[in-house]
Formats: sequence, C-alpha cells, structure tokens
Amino acid sequence: MANEAHFLFLFLVMLSAMHFVAAHDRRRLSNTISRGSSLTPTGNSSWLSPSGLFAFGFFPQGHNRYGVGIILAGLATNKTVVWTANRDYPPVSDNVTLRFTKDGRLVLQQQSQEIIWQISHQNVSSASILDSGNFVLYDCENKIIWQSFDEPTDTILPGQILSEDQELSSRISESDFSTGIFRLKLQFHSNLVLYPANTVDRSFNSYWSTNVPAGVLYDVTTLNLNPDGHLFLLRQGSFVEATRPYILANLTQGFNEKQRLYVVKFDFDGILRLYSLSLDGKGKGSSVVWESSKNRCDPKGLCGLNGYCTLTDDDDDPKCLCPGGFNYVSPGNRNEGCERNYTVHCGSNKERTIQYSMTQLQHTWWENDPDSVEQMRSKEECEAACLEDCECEAALYKDGDCKKLSLPLRYGRSSMNDSTVAFIKWALPPPGNMTKNSKDKLVVPVLAAGSGGGLALMLVFLVIVYCGVRQHQRVKNKKLKENFFERNGGIILQQLLYQSESILDRARIYTEEELKKATNNFNESNVIGQGGYGVVYKGVIADKVYAIKKSKVVDRSQVDQFVNEVIILWQINHPNVVKLLGCCLETPVPLLVYEFVTNNTLFHHLHDEGLASSIPWTMRLKIATETAGALAHLHSAPVHIIHRDIKSANILLEDGYSVKVSDFGVSRLFSPQETHLATLVQGTFGYIDPEYFHSGILTQKSDVYSFGVVLAELLTGAKVVSFLREEKDRNLGMYFLSKLEEDRLYTILEPRVRNEGNAVQLEGAAEIAKKCLSIEGAKRPTMMEVAEELAELRELTIDDHLCVEVDYKYCHV
Ligand SMILES: *[C@@H]1O[C@H](CO)[C@@H](O)[C@H](O)[C@H]1NC(C)=O
Ligand SMILES: *[C@@H]1O[C@H](CO)[C@@H](O)[C@H](O)[C@H]1NC(C)=O
Ligand SMILES: *[C@@H]1O[C@H](CO)[C@@H](O)[C@H](O)[C@H]1NC(C)=O
Ligand SMILES: *[C@@H]1O[C@H](CO)[C@@H](O)[C@H](O)[C@H]1NC(C)=O
Ligand SMILES: *[C@@H]1O[C@H](CO)[C@@H](O)[C@H](O)[C@H]1NC(C)=O
Ligand SMILES: *[C@@H]1O[C@H](CO)[C@@H](O)[C@H](O)[C@H]1NC(C)=O
Ligand SMILES: *[C@@H]1O[C@H](CO)[C@@H](O)[C@H](O)[C@H]1NC(C)=O
Ligand SMILES: *[C@@H]1O[C@H](CO)[C@@H](O)[C@H](O)[C@H]1NC(C)=O
Repeated sequence: MANEAHFLFLFLVMLSAMHFVAAHDRRRLSNTISRGSSLTPTGNSSWLSPSGLFAFGFFPQGHNRYGVGIILAGLATNKTVVWTANRDYPPVSDNVTLRFTKDGRLVLQQQSQEIIWQISHQNVSSASILDSGNFVLYDCENKIIWQSFDEPTDTILPGQILSEDQELSSRISESDFSTGIFRLKLQFHSNLVLYPANTVDRSFNSYWSTNVPAGVLYDVTTLNLNPDGHLFLLRQGSFVEATRPYILANLTQGFNEKQRLYVVKFDFDGILRLYSLSLDGKGKGSSVVWESSKNRCDPKGLCGLNGYCTLTDDDDDPKCLCPGGFNYVSPGNRNEGCERNYTVHCGSNKERTIQYSMTQLQHTWWENDPDSVEQMRSKEECEAACLEDCECEAALYKDGDCKKLSLPLRYGRSSMNDSTVAFIKWALPPPGNMTKNSKDKLVVPVLAAGSGGGLALMLVFLVIVYCGVRQHQRVKNKKLKENFFERNGGIILQQLLYQSESILDRARIYTEEELKKATNNFNESNVIGQGGYGVVYKGVIADKVYAIKKSKVVDRSQVDQFVNEVIILWQINHPNVVKLLGCCLETPVPLLVYEFVTNNTLFHHLHDEGLASSIPWTMRLKIATETAGALAHLHSAPVHIIHRDIKSANILLEDGYSVKVSDFGVSRLFSPQETHLATLVQGTFGYIDPEYFHSGILTQKSDVYSFGVVLAELLTGAKVVSFLREEKDRNLGMYFLSKLEEDRLYTILEPRVRNEGNAVQLEGAAEIAKKCLSIEGAKRPTMMEVAEELAELRELTIDDHLCVEVDYKYCHV
C-alpha cells in the first residue's frame, strides 16, 4: 500500500516535471511564434514544434480546401490531424491567411479582411506549438492564457488531461473533421461514458462506460494518458477534503515498446481507440492496441432513428438497415436513419380506411422504453395485440414478454444471438382507389352516427380521445422528469442518478403538490424531528406514512449534504439502515422521502423526560447488536462508507426496538485503497473520536469510537455530555473508562440494566465498549468484530440471569 502510494506520488512528480520541462524547452529552443507572423495554405503553411513532431497550421482537406489545426507531422507514416481549430466551419480555400496580428490576436482571414475564425483571447504576446502537441498562447508575462489541450476535439495526446465535465466529439468521417454523431464525456465524480451526440447523460443512452463507483461531492476525476500508453482514471479529493490521488480504473496498462507514440482517438464510428504509432518508421506504422468495444454495432444511434445495425458475415463492418415499409432518410448516408412516408393514425384502424399489417424481423430489437409490457404465450399473440392496439407501432417479443413500442424506434440492433422477434406495423396499399375509397369509408360512421344515434360516433370519439390523452400523458411525464433534475442545484445529482437506472427504479419522484398535501402544508404539528440539516415531517400519502425531510435553507453546504445523503443512501440496502424511498426536487429546497420509522430515536427513549429506564436490557442489547451490524455492513465492501455521525439521536427505532440507522449527511465514501481520509472534523461533540478530532484523519475506527459511546449510553443511561458530572467526567466516554478502571462498573449501570442483565452479558458489553473507546484507533476492534461479539452475548439464554441478584461477579454460565 505504502509502495503504491509512493509510486503514484513519484509518477505525479514526473508528470508535472514533464510539463515543466516542456514549457522550458520551448524557450530554450526559441521557436516562439511572435506577433506579426502569418501562415497561408500554399506558402509557409504551419509552425513546427521544436522536434518537428507536431505542427500547427493548415492541412489539406479535400480538393484545394484546407482546415486549420494541429497535425502529427513528424511521423514516418501518416500526417494525422490531432486537433482542429474550426471544425464546424467549411474548409477554406487557398486565398486565406492565418495571422498572429501585431495587436495580439489570432485570426483566420480572407484577403478582404473578412474574419472567418479567431481565438477569442486578445493581447496574446506569443504562441508556441510544443513537442507534446499542445498549442499554447502566452501573455506578456509568459503565462499560459489558452491552450489547445483545454479544448480537445477528438484526440488525446500523452500528457493531456481530460477533466470532469469535458467532452470529446467524434468526427463525421475519417476525412471530415466536423462534429459527428458520438460524444465522450468524463462525468462529474465518476465515469468516462460514451453517448450518441445530442442526448442527455443517462445510462439508457450510454453504450460504454468505465463503470467505476460514483464518488462524493469532493472528488475530482481526470482521464490521463501516459507516454507509455497507460490510460487511466485518476481520482483525487479536493474542495475542503483533500485525499491522495489514486488510480480509479486502468483502461490500459502501459506498453513496453520504445519509439512509439500512443494516441487516444474517439473515432468517427463511436469507438474509443488507443493507437500506437511508429515514431521511427520501424515496425507497424499504426496499430490499435486497445478499443472500447469490439462490436462495431455497439455505439448507440449509429443507424439513426428506426434503423438497425447488423454486422456483415464476412467482416466486422457494421451495416445500417431499415425495417420493411421504411426508407433511408438520406439514401447517401445510412447513419441518418429510416422513415416511412405515411403515419399510422391512432384510431384510424377503426375506420378501416387504411389496412394495417405487421412485418416480422427475427433477431432484431430496439431499445425504446416500452409503452407496455405484457406476458404472452406466443409471438403470434403479441403480433395480434399490437395490430389491434391503435397506439402500438411496433412490438418486440422475447421469452414470453410482449413489449409495445411507438415510433421513433431507437438504438436498433440485429444479432443472430438474440431471440427477440420484432413486429413493425405498416400500411397495406388500400384496396382500389385510395382517395375515393377513404371518402366512402369515412361516410359510414358519420352516417351511422346520424341515423343510429350518437353511440357509434361517441365510441370513435372516445377511442381517439383516449389515445390522445395517453399520448399526451407520456409526453408530459417525460417533460416533468427532465425538468425536475435540471433545477434545484441538482446538476451533480442528475448526473449521478442517471448513471444507475436501478436507483430510479427503487426511488419514486414525488411532486411538490403530493408532499404538501401529505404534510398538511408542512404543518408544525407534523414535525417529528430535526435532522442534521433540516426538519423532518410526518406525511401520509395514499394511507401510508412517510418521513419527509426538508432542508431549512438552501445554502451551498446544505445542498452538498443533501446530495451526499442521496448518493450514499441509494447505495445501501440493509434492514437496519433507513430506506430512502424518493425525493422531490421541484421545490426551492430539496425534499427527501424516507420510510417512516415508528418509534422515535434511541436518544428520545434514553434521555427524554419520563422515559429513563424505559428500554429493557435485552432490547438494549438488540439495539447495540443491530447498530453494530449496520455499521459493519457500511464499512465493508462493496459500500465502504464511514457514517461519521453515529449517536443515539441518529439511531431510529421501530416498534419492537428494531434499529434504523439514519442521517448520512456528513458520511463519506472511501475507496478500498484508502485506509484513511484527511478531512474537516465533523460529528457531534461527545461522540467524536478524539484521535480524529486532533489529527483530522478519518478512519473506520472513528465510527467504532462513536459506537462505543452509544454502547456506554445504553449501559448507563447517562447523558453523553453532562455538566452535572465532575469536569474530568463530563464526557461519557472518559467517565465510563475511568469507572471501569476503578472496577466500579455496577455503580454506573442504569438500575434497570443492572437488575435485568446477567453478569456475563453486562461485563461483556462493558468490555466491548471499553475496547471501542480506546484512545488509539488501531487498538479498537473493527465493527465486524464488535457485531459478532455482541451477537454472541445476545445468544446467552434467559436462565443465565437468575443468578444475577446473588452475585454479579461470580455468575458465569
Ligand atoms: C517562410 O518563412 C520564412 C521565414 O520564417 C521566410 O524566409 C520565407 O520567405 C517564407 N516563405 C513564404 C513563401 O512566405
Ligand atoms: C494511416 O494511414 C493508413 C493508410 O493510409 C490508414 O489505414 C491508417 O488508419 C492511418 N492511421 C491513422 C492513425 O490514421
Ligand atoms: C477565395 O476563393 C474562393 C473560392 O476559390 C472564392 O469564392 C472567393 O471569392 C475568394 N475570395 C477572395 C477574397 O478572393
Ligand atoms: C490589451 O492591452 C491594451 C494596452 O496594452 C489595453 O488597453 C487593453 O485593455 C487590453 N485588452 C484586453 C482585452 O485585455
Ligand atoms: C492500475 O495499474 C497500476 C499499475 O500500472 C496498479 O498499481 C494499480 O493498482 C491499478 N489500479 C487499478 C484500480 O486497477
Ligand atoms: C411510400 O413510398 C413508396 C415507395 O417509396 C410508394 O410505393 C408508396 O406508394 C408510398 N406510400 C404513400 C402512402 O405515399
Ligand atoms: C454472440 O455469439 C458469439 C458466438 O456465437 C459470441 O462470441 C458473442 O459473445 C455473442 N454475443 C452476445 C451479445 O451474446
Ligand atoms: C383514383 O381515381 C381517380 C378517379 O377515379 C383516378 O383518376 C386515379 O388515377 C385513381 N388513382 C389510382 C391510384 O388508382
């Protein structure tokens, strides 16, 4: 572990040293580009980096047309374009000039002075193309004011870092550098994800992801490429809580080949590839050493709407096809999808002016959200169901499930492996003369309505209205969903939530209206507690009771805690941890909806007036055991969470004294590589681990200490901080230890506990509390050990306590 950290540190030093050297080389080799310089496509067409490996300037793009960008010029083989300046402008002709003007601007002009493109910075003092391939602009103090590495297009070079929220876009084709149909994004706090262009960041759109666990608010992730081809995600805590950077995921390990340049390129076909290029002309000129996916049909959206992708038998080339009844939107570009030249009108089936039929496609499927899923015995049944449903435009049948879809169809694939059968509705050519015929048919229901009463018309009308309403409802719901995550400081949350659809499956989204109604407009009489950062109300929705937590004010730190709690709770599924059931982000302050825990907090039962000694000893042992079990679960894989604020007020009780640990507002996720975190000290006075308090180093053992205090609280019924005790004993942890030291456990036990417990259990529990309260974290047991020991104590039989009254000290099983 220490070695690894050491290595990482060295490596980071090396990385920064490389940047440093690069910056200095530039000046030493004095190929600084100064004001007044210019380039033309046919004259001096580019500025070279010191070694001549990279060039910035014009490159040919089509016949007598040019683009501006950074070219890998020094390779024996290809002159690869690694960055484009004006990617979405049409290529320019040869009568343009790229000028670094006397007043410090970088502009691309036609002879007539018309500016085609420019870098928005002014007063640029000098520029330079570095040997790393980075084109840099400096101010008069030689500070970097702009660099191409900060605005990547589709390529990442060694030493270039992609930071959170940055995107790459694929090109349209190998030779057309304009923005294409795929994007790569390094999402907040988590993953590198590939999506089709123009989609929201949600997992149903993604077709590849690094799939690392989401971090918390304070973490910063970067994508890094080393000169040896090691491609990895690095994570580091920032903000107030700095943790040491660690490798979150290795996409590749380094390669041991000399004289090769490693370049990451997000290719036009939507696949991320790592290329190894020969620097000296030896070996293979260019080869792919890693790719995000082997199956070239994987990139979603490759075939546009309604189309589907299939791999041809002989090679791995993807091919886009249209289902029967559809034509290519643009026959020249099959990636643009398919359309049909008529629409299926809902309700028109009833009128029988157009006859519908279903075409069948074996081994083919689309990834639309189905309008409905029903169990059916056969594909024929599914086919018939869709044909009869005026809304259904396509159906997928697989393993007894019939999914009805409406157009447009998204993300179509075809593969012999898959047994899905797709049915697509299409219109049969109408019998006879269409216009005449349809007029004839239309007359029928109207006539029927006129003569046979309103019933028939009513029916037709109802069908149309019903379908219309359903259509409308679907659209409305989608809008709502999209709206709600975009507001309310929830951008981070949005990104995190949508990385895992399963989260959305488990949690419900409540409207503000629902929660207002549930809590009687957040009435004071419904307040059941004050959480770490807000008020908790009791609310009733559809006859079920919930706990609804509302932030008091929206300030930055509370939104942080809110998001933190959501992230953490959604990763835990444990019977003794309170369940988050949903949230509402429509309101100015975020609202969280939890399961309602019926019997208040442990604090209430131990300390509130009139309740002293209300909990029997066996129940206290149960509470301790369950709490320890929940903490052991939090501390272990795959969750790895430090609760950080364990106290009796955060231990909720059900009827029958079952435990629900709550309030994860200041909890921390930590990676398996981390044994400790340097953090701001947070927690509650009296429960805080003194070691953490003094060092700021948070470990799992800090929770163990706080648990020790709760256990002492359960045994003694004493307040955690009491000014009624002598100064040295104010803190319950210290007080408890000093009494044990004096061998006077029985004098501080709560009377009821002393009377009900047997000596083995009482002394055993006290011993555990003592170990948990060790000043040195390392000497404390793990939560797992604590949970096991408590469980053993609980199993002692009831009979054992009969001897208690006789002599505590000598009563053994
Ligand atoms: C190219 O630049 C060099 C100096 O940098 C200059 O001497 C030469 O005349 C330029 N050539 C053209 C065609 O502008
Ligand atoms: C280099 O050129 C060859 C042939 O022109 C091509 O097949 C290869 O993909 C190119 N390499 C890169 C990295 O563009
Ligand atoms: C530059 O060339 C393009 C195409 O060759 C032409 O349309 C344009 O008028 C030219 N501009 C000037 C200022 O000569
Ligand atoms: C550029 O520099 C000039 C004088 O050196 C100054 O007046 C001007 O405000 C500067 N412009 C910008 C955008 O910094
Ligand atoms: C990544 O690779 C490095 C060695 O290159 C190794 O030390 C590290 O443990 C790996 N990390 C992960 C998360 O796989
Ligand atoms: C749709 O297009 C096909 C051929 O592209 C044509 O045969 C058919 O008549 C068209 N249908 C309608 C309703 O226009
Ligand atoms: C499809 O089958 C081939 C071999 O028949 C297998 O290699 C491949 O992984 C399968 N693909 C999927 C998506 O199951
Ligand atoms: C439909 O009928 C009209 C008039 O009877 C005729 O002119 C037209 O050609 C017919 N169209 C078709 C497709 O049969």
